[in-house]
Amino acid sequence: MSKLDKIRKIIIKTIKKNNSHLHEPYFDKKELFEVKKTIKSTIVSTYGKSINIFEKKISKFLKSKFTLCVNSGTSALHISLKVLGVDRNSIVYMPSLTYVAAANAVRYNQAEPFFLDSDKFNYGICYKDLKKNLEKNVKFIKGKPFCKIAKKKISAILVVHAFGYAANIRKIIKIAKKFKIPVIEDAADCFGTKVFGKYLGTFGDVGILSFNGNKTITSGSGGAILTKNKKLFNRASKLITVSKKKHKWKFIHDEVGYNYKMNALNASLGIAQIKKINLILKRKKTLHFRYLKNFNDLKDIEVVTSEKNTKSNYWINLIKVKNISLRDKILNYLSRHKIYCRPVWDLMHTLPMYKKYYRSNISEAKKLYETTICLPSGPSL
Ligand SMILES: Cc1ncc(COP(=O)(O)O)c(C=O)c1O
Repeated sequence: MSKLDKIRKIIIKTIKKNNSHLHEPYFDKKELFEVKKTIKSTIVSTYGKSINIFEKKISKFLKSKFTLCVNSGTSALHISLKVLGVDRNSIVYMPSLTYVAAANAVRYNQAEPFFLDSDKFNYGICYKDLKKNLEKNVKFIKGKPFCKIAKKKISAILVVHAFGYAANIRKIIKIAKKFKIPVIEDAADCFGTKVFGKYLGTFGDVGILSFNGNKTITSGSGGAILTKNKKLFNRASKLITVSKKKHKWKFIHDEVGYNYKMNALNASLGIAQIKKINLILKRKKTLHFRYLKNFNDLKDIEVVTSEKNTKSNYWINLIKVKNISLRDKILNYLSRHKIYCRPVWDLMHTLPMYKKYYRSNISEAKKLYETTICLPSGPSL
């Protein structure tokens, strides 16, 4: 049996199917029940009970003080950066290995990204690279951090927790405090992942989630902003509702706002999903341990797993192979056999629109990019 076929056989044995997409949602009749209920109520727009209920359920599960549901993880990123004061005079430190939405959100706010390397174990931003760069590049002007080379204020560190694993968030927050920089956590991939007993998305000044169809739980499309800061919450609430001031019957808009609020139909789907979060997390954990066991005998292939003190949601199972040519051979072979795997995201600093921005020496993220394969990971498998 060829190596490629061995890999295919191991995946088939693990997912107990001959073919699969990367991540399909786990639905039963409860989703239909909740969505039907909302349709019958005729309140399907961006207000109404189901949005409040979904927000409360998220807050309760994650122990997040304030939760604001929006129409995508990308909108959540856009607004979170904005409420932290990110603007055309800002630099935002972020990893190069991330989904493009994170870099786009920085540019929606007209700020400049500063791309950093990744941690080879958890795929998150490398805290050592962050520390080194800040020590070299920061000077304080009137008590505020300023980037010497970009000649701009440093408005945020955007921490991306990738594929269900946790970046070194406690270390990063310690560094951020020293340099007086707010932290935003992109936990789009990490609903339900805990570090030291605390859920991702609740460590930073602001956290964001995604409920896109390919995420651990889904609302079709959607996202959320999490914060413990009432001022930030109020500011975000206003911006996502077209900057409309509260009034019984008058339309009062006093600044440019966004139509980003989640609608009731999406929220009702989300309610059905969050009600079974523990079952979904359990199924995903079981699948992960099946991958670990079944790949155990195959030399040269490593299944990426949780670090100590992290309880992953195991959003996407990852394997590491020897090099990019083997990675592509495997991806081609599996795709021909209808097992749809993927490489990890392209590095931001290699994309045409992001080539010109500041970056550190990005070597680990390049290795991760060249050697990692994302495997089918849906909770139905
Ligand atoms: C790390 C990360 N950030 C942000 C997003 C954007 O979320 P959405 O697709 O809901 O806009 C994603 C989506 O896949 C993601 O993986």
